[in-house]
Amino acid sequence: MKNSFVNTSNVARFMSAVSDLQNRGAGEACLMVVDGHPGLSKTTICHWWAIQNNAVFLRAKAEWTPRWMVRELLESMNVKPRHSFQDCFRQAVDALMSRSNQAQIQGKTFAVIIDEVDHIGKSAKCLETLRDFSDLLEIPFIFVGMQKVRDNISRFPQISSRIGQYVEFFPASRDDVYSLVNELCEVEVGKDLIEFLLEVSRGRVREVKEAIMAIERFGKRNNGTVTRKAMAGETLLNSRDNGQPIKVRAD
Ligand SMILES: Nc1ncnc2c1ncn2[C@@H]1O[C@H](COP(=O)(O)OP(=O)(O)OP(=O)(O)O)[C@@H](O)[C@H]1O
Ligand SMILES: [Mg+2]
Repeated sequence: MKNSFVNTSNVARFMSAVSDLQNRGAGEACLMVVDGHPGLSKTTICHWWAIQNNAVFLRAKAEWTPRWMVRELLESMNVKPRHSFQDCFRQAVDALMSRSNQAQIQGKTFAVIIDEVDHIGKSAKCLETLRDFSDLLEIPFIFVGMQKVRDNISRFPQISSRIGQYVEFFPASRDDVYSLVNELCEVEVGKDLIEFLLEVSRGRVREVKEAIMAIERFGKRNNGTVTRKAMAGETLLNSRDNGQPIKVRAD
C-alpha cells in the first residue's frame, strides 16, 4: 500500500473551519473542537495540516497535569523547560508568540492541536491552562477527540464559550472511498469491489485501509484486476462492531 495522504472531504471540512476561525469576530473565541467516531481520520488530517503549517501537534495523556502538559508543549517547540511552572508558562507564551509571528510572515496559520483531548476532558486545570494561553495570545487551539469531547467541555462554560468552531468528521463518502482505493492500493481494483467495500466499511477509513491491504495481498497472488467475483469468499476486513471477519460476497 502506498503511504500517501488522500485529500478526502473531511480535509475540506477541517480547512474551512480553520479559515472561519481565522475570520472570527471575537478574538478570544479561538478554540476549535474536532470530533467524530474512531478511525475517521481525525489524527491523520490534523497531523498533516500541522506539518503543512508548522503548527504544534500534541497528544494528550491520561495522566497529564498542567505542568507535564506545558513541558511537553515546550519540548515540541524545542525549548528547554525551566524549573518552576511559572517560568515554563512564560517560556511557552514567548515561544508560541514567536511561532505565531513567524507563521504570519510566511502566510501560514499557526495553531496548537491537542489530539486525544478526551484524556483531559474532565481536567479543569489542564483546560484552564490552555484557555489562559489562548486568551493571552489569541491563537487557535484545536481540540481533537471523540464525541464526548463536546459533552465534557460543555461542563466548563468559560471554555465552551470560547469555542469558535465545531467540526464533526464524517465517514468517507463514495468519492472518498474511490480516492482512497485508487490512490493507495497498488493493484487494480474493480468498481464492484469498491462498492462492496463502501457498503461494509460504512466509510470508516481505518477499515477501508485494512481492506486495501487484503485486496493488495490477494491481487499480488493473482493476476488481473481484483473484482468482487475474483475475491469472493476471501476476508476483506474485520468488523469493528462484532470482531467477525467480513468476507467478500459474490453478489
Ligand atoms: N486522508 C487520509 N489519507 C490516507 N490515509 C488516511 C487518511 N485518513 C486516515 N487515514 C488512515 O486511516 C487510519 C485511521 O485514521 P486516524 O488514526 O487518523 O483516525 P482517528 O479519527 O484519529 O481515529 P481515533 O478516533 O481512533 O483516534 C490510519 O491508518 C490512517 O493512516
Ligand atoms: Mg486519532
